[in-house]
Amino acid sequence: MKQPQTIHFRDYQQSDFTITSCLLEFIIDNGSTRVDNVMTIVRQNLNAKEIHLDGEMMDLELLWLNDVLLNEEMYRREEDGIVIPLDADTAQIRVITRIYPDENTALEGLYRSGGIWCTQNEPEGFRRITYFIDRPDVMCTFTTKIIANKAMCPIVLGNGNLVGTATLENGKHLAIWDDPIPKPSYLFALVAGDLGSIHDVFITMSGKKVDLAIYCDRGNEEKCHHAMRSLKKSMAWDEETYGREYDLDVYNIVAVDSFNMGAMENKGLNIFNSHYVLADETSATDGDFMGIESVIAHEYFHNWTGNRITCRNWFELTLKEGLTVFRDQCFSADMNSRLNQRIDDVKSLRERQFVEDAGPTAHPIKPQQFIEINNFYTATVYEKGAEVIRMLHTLLGEDKFRRAMDMYFDHFDGKAVGTEEFLWAMQTQSPIDLTQFKRWYSQERTPTLKISSHYDEVGQRLTLKIVQSIPKDTHGREQLPYAFPFGIGLVDGYGSDMILKSPNAMLLHEGVLWIENGVSELIFEEITMAPRLSLNRNFSAPVKIECAQIDYPFLMAHDTDGFNRYEASHVYAIETLESMMRGEAINPLFIEAFGVILNDASLEMMFKAQLLTLPSINTMMQRQEILDVEAVHTSLEVLKKHLAHTYKEILIREISAIYEPKNSAIDALSMGRRALSNRCLGLLMSLESDPISMMCLNRYRESVNMSSRLAALDLLEIYAPHLAVEALNDFYHQHRDQTLLMNKYFSLLASSYRGGVLERVKELQADEVYDNKVPNLVRALIGSFARNPVAFYDESGKGFAFVADKVIEIDGFNPQIASGLVGAFKNYGRLTIDQKTKMGIELERIKNHPNLSNNVREIVEKILAV
Ligand code: BES
Ligand code: ZN
Repeated sequence: MKQPQTIHFRDYQQSDFTITSCLLEFIIDNGSTRVDNVMTIVRQNLNAKEIHLDGEMMDLELLWLNDVLLNEEMYRREEDGIVIPLDADTAQIRVITRIYPDENTALEGLYRSGGIWCTQNEPEGFRRITYFIDRPDVMCTFTTKIIANKAMCPIVLGNGNLVGTATLENGKHLAIWDDPIPKPSYLFALVAGDLGSIHDVFITMSGKKVDLAIYCDRGNEEKCHHAMRSLKKSMAWDEETYGREYDLDVYNIVAVDSFNMGAMENKGLNIFNSHYVLADETSATDGDFMGIESVIAHEYFHNWTGNRITCRNWFELTLKEGLTVFRDQCFSADMNSRLNQRIDDVKSLRERQFVEDAGPTAHPIKPQQFIEINNFYTATVYEKGAEVIRMLHTLLGEDKFRRAMDMYFDHFDGKAVGTEEFLWAMQTQSPIDLTQFKRWYSQERTPTLKISSHYDEVGQRLTLKIVQSIPKDTHGREQLPYAFPFGIGLVDGYGSDMILKSPNAMLLHEGVLWIENGVSELIFEEITMAPRLSLNRNFSAPVKIECAQIDYPFLMAHDTDGFNRYEASHVYAIETLESMMRGEAINPLFIEAFGVILNDASLEMMFKAQLLTLPSINTMMQRQEILDVEAVHTSLEVLKKHLAHTYKEILIREISAIYEPKNSAIDALSMGRRALSNRCLGLLMSLESDPISMMCLNRYRESVNMSSRLAALDLLEIYAPHLAVEALNDFYHQHRDQTLLMNKYFSLLASSYRGGVLERVKELQADEVYDNKVPNLVRALIGSFARNPVAFYDESGKGFAFVADKVIEIDGFNPQIASGLVGAFKNYGRLTIDQKTKMGIELERIKNHPNLSNNVREIVEKILAV
C-alpha cells in the first residue's frame, strides 16, 4: 500500500520526459497476461538525468534501455515505480510485465468482468498494466497487438482503427489496433472475450463513414438498440451544435457487468457499465432510458472535450467533466424537454452537490490538493462544474459561447490544458472581465443570497437588496463575493413580466442581471404596481435564496419561467413541512395551491408530476442544524395523507384517465402519463386503503412497462406489506437471471421506509444472486441502505455499524467502491450527542483498521475532523 501523500496543485511541474509512441503487445491467457511495451522517450528537461516510470501491482520480467538488457543494479525499484538513469535526449525503453487480471478485484487496470477482459485506466490504472509516465499531460500514439485464444476471445478490441489480424497456431489469433491520435494513457483500452454485438454506420458532416458497434454479453444484443440510437443522435448533435466531427473510422462501445463507474470515454473504445447500455421496455424504466441516452452522449462528447483537448493534470478534472456534463445536459434538453431536464439537473445538484458542499469533504471545482484523486470525481467537480460553464453560457449568450468554444478548440486541439486556457477562450468573447468570476473555481461552499425588496408606490420604484452571504471554507477562511448572472422577473398582477429599467443594475439581456457586489441595492423604475418577485429564474446561478417576500401560490400558477413555477411549489412545500415540524397546523393555503395544480389540465404531464412531488427526506434534512430524520419522515407522511384525503376523488379520476397499462412507448407524452399517474398513485397509497392497494397490485400485474411495475411494487412495499410479499416474490422469480433487474429489486428493498430493513438487507446478502464483487449489486443493496435515512439513522446505531462493517470488508478488495460508501457518514457533525457518539465509534473503527486504503482514509479523516 502506498503511503498517504498529499499532492498539491502548486507543486505541478511538467514532466522531465515525454513518451511519443508506445507499441504494446498483450498475450492474454487464463491466469495471467504478459505485456510487452516498447516506448520512444524524449527528454523535455535537459537537466534530467534519470527517468521515473510509474508502475504498481505487477511483476517486472525484463527491461531494456536502447537494446541493453538491464539487471537489478542498473535501475532502482521504488514503491510506486522504477527509476532508470538516463542522460540522453531520446531513448527507447522496452519493458515486459506480467499482470493478473483474474485477481484484480479493484477493477482498475486490466481485469475480468464475467469472462471478459477489459480495462479501466482513468485516472491512474495504466500503471497497473505496464511501466509508463502515467499522467494526462504525456500524450502519445499507441499501437496495440492483442494475442488471445480464438475460442475464448473471438472478439479482441483496442483503441483506434483495426490495422491487422492473423490466425496463429495453438488456437490463437491476433489483432493489431492503431490509434494515430496522441492521447494520455488514461484513455487506453483493451477488450477481449466472447461477445455479441450490433452494428450500424454514421456518415459524418464531411461525408466520412464511421463503423459503429456495441458489444455485450451474448443474448443481450436486442437490448442495445436504444444505446445505438442515442450514439447516432449524439454524433449528429455535436456536429450541429458545435461543428465537431468524429475523427476515427470506428466507434466501439462495450458493456460489462463489473464496473466501478458509469462509463468511460476511452478513445474509440468506450467501456460502459451494462446498466448504461442495456434496455428494453420490459426491463428498463423511463429513467433508465433517459440515463442511457445521456451517458452515451456524455462519453461521446468527451472525444472533443477530454480526449482531443485533455487535462494538464488531475486538478483540472472539471475542465473535461464539468464541460462535458454541461454538454450532455444541453443535449438531453434538446432531445427531450428543456424544462424538465433543467428541473432534474437542479434537483440532482441540490441533493448531491449542495450536501457535499456543506459538509466535511467540500472542495472547489478545481481542488488545490488531494491524497487520492479517485475521491475527486465528485458532484462538485461534475455538477457544480457544469453550472459554472452554464453561467458563462448565460453571460455570453448562445452565439458568443459557440464562438468562444471554437476558439478553445482551435487553440488547444491536441494539447493538455487547464481551466485557465478555457477561461481565456471565454474571455475573448465576454463583455465582462472574468477575473472575479474565476472565484467559482477556487472557492468552495454554496453562497446564500439574502434578498429583500421595497416598493415605493409614489415614485413607482422598486429597490431590491441582494446580500451575498458566503460561508467560511473548510479551513475556516473567509471567502469573497461571487460574480454571476441572475435571472429575475418582476411580475405584475396578471402574471406578465414588467420591463426591467434600472439606473444602476447591469442588465446582460432582458430578465438577466449581472451581480458582482457583496451587497447590491438595485433600483427598478417605472414599476406601475407592487410586483411579485421571481428570483434566480431558470436557476441561473448555483446559489441558495432567502427571501421572505415570495408569493408562492401566485408563482406556482402564473410565473412565465417554468423553472420558477416548479421552484415555488418546491419551496412552498418545504416551508409548509417546516411549519408542521414546529408544531403548527398544516397551511391550508399550500393545500389549496396544490389543488390548483392538480386541477390544471393544461399542464404538460411530466412537469405536472414534478410540481406535485413533495421534497425528499434528504432535502429536508439538509436544512436542519441537528438531524431529526424521524420528524421529517413523519411530517412528510402526514402531509401526504392530508393531500390524498383532501383530493382523493380527483386523484382517482386523474389516474384512471391517464393510465395506459399496455403502453410502453418512451415518447414524452407516454412517459409524462406514467410519471403523473405514478405520482398520484403514490399520494393515494399513503391512505393505506384496501381498494387502492388492490388497484396498485393490479397495476403491478397488468402493466407491461417496467416504470409502472416498479413504481407499483415500491408503493406496495411501503404501504401495503401484506400484498407486497406476493408481488416481490413474483418479481424475484421472474427476473432472477437478469442482473440489472435484480439491482432494482435489491435497491427497492434496501430503500424501504418500513421497519426491519437492516435485517432484510443482511439476509439478502446471502441471496444467490447477490455478489459483493459486483459494484452494481453493492450499490443496489448496501449503497441504497446507506442512503436510506430512516434505516441508516436508526437510533440503535446498528445502521452505522453495518455500513462500517461493509466499508472495511469491501475496502479489502475494492477501495474505490468502499470510499464511495463511507460518504454515508458525512453528517457526523450534525447529529445528536447520542447519535454522534455511536457514529464516532464506527468511524474510529474504520480509521484504525489495519491496511486501510488511502481512498477510505482520506474521507474518514475529513469526516472525523469536524
Ligand atoms: N471519465 C469518466 C469516468 C471515470 C470516472 C473514470 C471516475 C475514472 C474515474 C466518465 O466520463 C464519466 O464521467 N462517467 C460518469 C457518467 C457521466 C454521465 C457523468 C460516471 O461514470 O459516473
Ligand atoms: Zn465524464
